[in-house]
Amino acid sequence: MRLTVIGCGYVGLVTGACLAAAGHEVYCTDIDEKRIDLLNAGKVPIYEEHLDEVLKRARAEKKIFFQKDSGEAIRAGEVIFICVGTPPKDTGEADLSAIDHVARQVATEAKTPKLVVEKSTVPALTGVQLQKALGAYSRNGGALKFQVASNPEFLREGTAVEDFFHPDRIVVGVENQSSATVMREIYQPILERKFHCPVHGGTCPKGSGELLVTTISSAELIKHASNSFLALKISYANVISDLCEKIGADVEEVTRAMGLDPRIGTQFLKAGLGFGGFCFPKDIQAFIHLAGSIGVEFDMLKAAERVNKQRIERFFEKIHKALWVIKGKKVAVLGLAFKPNTDDIRFAPALDVIRKLLEEGAEVHATDPEAIGRTRPLLPQVCYHEDPYEALKGADAALVCTEWKQFRALDWEKAGKSMARRLVIDGRNFYSPKKMQEMGFEYYSFGRS
Ligand code: UGA
Repeated sequence: MRLTVIGCGYVGLVTGACLAAAGHEVYCTDIDEKRIDLLNAGKVPIYEEHLDEVLKRARAEKKIFFQKDSGEAIRAGEVIFICVGTPPKDTGEADLSAIDHVARQVATEAKTPKLVVEKSTVPALTGVQLQKALGAYSRNGGALKFQVASNPEFLREGTAVEDFFHPDRIVVGVENQSSATVMREIYQPILERKFHCPVHGGTCPKGSGELLVTTISSAELIKHASNSFLALKISYANVISDLCEKIGADVEEVTRAMGLDPRIGTQFLKAGLGFGGFCFPKDIQAFIHLAGSIGVEFDMLKAAERVNKQRIERFFEKIHKALWVIKGKKVAVLGLAFKPNTDDIRFAPALDVIRKLLEEGAEVHATDPEAIGRTRPLLPQVCYHEDPYEALKGADAALVCTEWKQFRALDWEKAGKSMARRLVIDGRNFYSPKKMQEMGFEYYSFGRS
């Protein structure tokens, strides 16, 4: 099938590349012309494991095209995936102006009927507005018919390609049976594993996700309800961790035992600096806003958001207790990205930590395997080091903000010899307190004695 992807950010690129790998012909466009130039030059503007090889293969097989002319791209596809950003406004409400802009482009540029799919994360009832906008902006007085569908993504940054090829579920919210049939046809190669998997080669795990057909409003709600639930789980674990500290219990023991109950599950119960990234913080806000706007009180989400914001304060309580005065101290920050295996620093807890360290007069040395390039322009006062041992040299304290596997492999004996003081404050409960203490480190983490 011929598909159009509007928006070549992380979701658009992964969606476009993987659907091309599944045999479709994909036409991608973006208002950022430099991005299109970069993609046409064979470069990938984001770091996402396996994405470069999937794109390379799709390009070689002439299955994916990047076009500056959005009209041409819109006319080329039978189905249009909207993958533009929906950032939060100051009120927390999602800013849907990019979706509105795309609706106008599609309505004015299309010459044949299209199925327009919301892939961007949008609040419930956006589909209704999108349908209205497509009709209102249409040049030919509504003679050209547009169908709308919602197809939320459940991709985790860092494992997005794997998630796309091996989904737990594919949700398609549609208005009618014909749209459901089209969406099923698009995803059939994924469900039947008819693609070259860059993650597992020929040895993909058995079992494939289910395609669920719902109403558009349900599909929109499923996305926000899922992300907000996961965020709730993390904040819950973080409050348990605070309790553990007061009581002298161990949060790892508590959450592990809780998670063994299959009704609870072990995932997303990891205590620490809390959640960041461009999904949870903005989605939880948008969901609170949506609920409020239709008269439904969602206090528990507000509490989850508050708990998450307080994690930085909790971390600084530990830093102050261990380091006493921060002014003039050399502090090494291990990890900038909001989580490992990505260069994304949006709403990354590490950046809040660094801002506060700088405010308090610390000399900050930071390291990260992928995110230095993105952080440097935002925080030019920091000294950046590709080599973590260089960042740790002469440091009065090391703060762990992202649990990169490269930091797991650090030789702390070696690092300790070059540090001014053997002090590690671990915001991700990444190391064993016992082992760190045995190596002569003062070691602090969340909810563990
Ligand atoms: C999240 C969801 O997991 C995806 O399903 C969803 O598609 C995506 O948002 C989206 O809406 O696009 P992502 O933001 O990539 O994916 O990251 P996660 O792996 O979910 O982690 C989010 C944050 O929670 C990270 O800062 C991570 O460090 C933190 N976290 C995660 C914890 O603090 N504790 C945990 O136990 C798990």
